[in-house]
Amino acid sequence: MTLHEILKQSPVVPVIVVHDENDAVPLAQAILQGGINVLEITLRTSAAFSAIQAIAQQVPEAIVGAGTVLNPYQLRKARDAGAQFAVSPGLTDELLTAAREDQFPFLPGVASAADIMQALQFDFTTVKPFPIELLGGIKWILSHKAVFPHLTFFPSGGITFENMKQYLGLEAVAAVGGSWLTPVDLIKRKDWAGITALVERTLKGC
Ligand code: 3PG
Repeated sequence: MTLHEILKQSPVVPVIVVHDENDAVPLAQAILQGGINVLEITLRTSAAFSAIQAIAQQVPEAIVGAGTVLNPYQLRKARDAGAQFAVSPGLTDELLTAAREDQFPFLPGVASAADIMQALQFDFTTVKPFPIELLGGIKWILSHKAVFPHLTFFPSGGITFENMKQYLGLEAVAAVGGSWLTPVDLIKRKDWAGITALVERTLKGC
């Protein structure tokens, strides 16, 4: 599936931190049950690669991606574990080269016009402004869209249930990412029904 097709699946992509790989499958199922089939497992814990693998193998209806990808090694390890896309908080020539070589759906993180220019040099036209609320929120997107009219954005960092609609109302925004759908305490308590309810509430509020 292309990046464009993946981002068309859901207006909101849950950004997830998994500490226990055994939580991965019930968590993905809870999200699917709520109505979202794209999710991002961040590579911030030692459980992340096994979590991606478990979801890819056991929950085939879910499109699982890897987040917080920092280098080509992680990009390829995530792909081999079954990730269908990758997201990074920033961008490097090495990552952009690897993703382009592999033709792997990749969302480079950007925080400036210079970053966007670097992404464009490698033909990436969909970028992740991060952390968008600190960068300037909606105004940041509008002012950069004016300069780079062919760009599509997948903002994250500070997006919440309360402000997501403002972002989703912008034509240049393909989807948004956020961690509010999978709070650490709900995962810890294995409150899968609570996560399904959060996903349902989010989709109703979009
Ligand atoms: C990300 O990697 O996209 C962010 O951690 C998500 O930001 P949030 O926790 O503010 O939603």
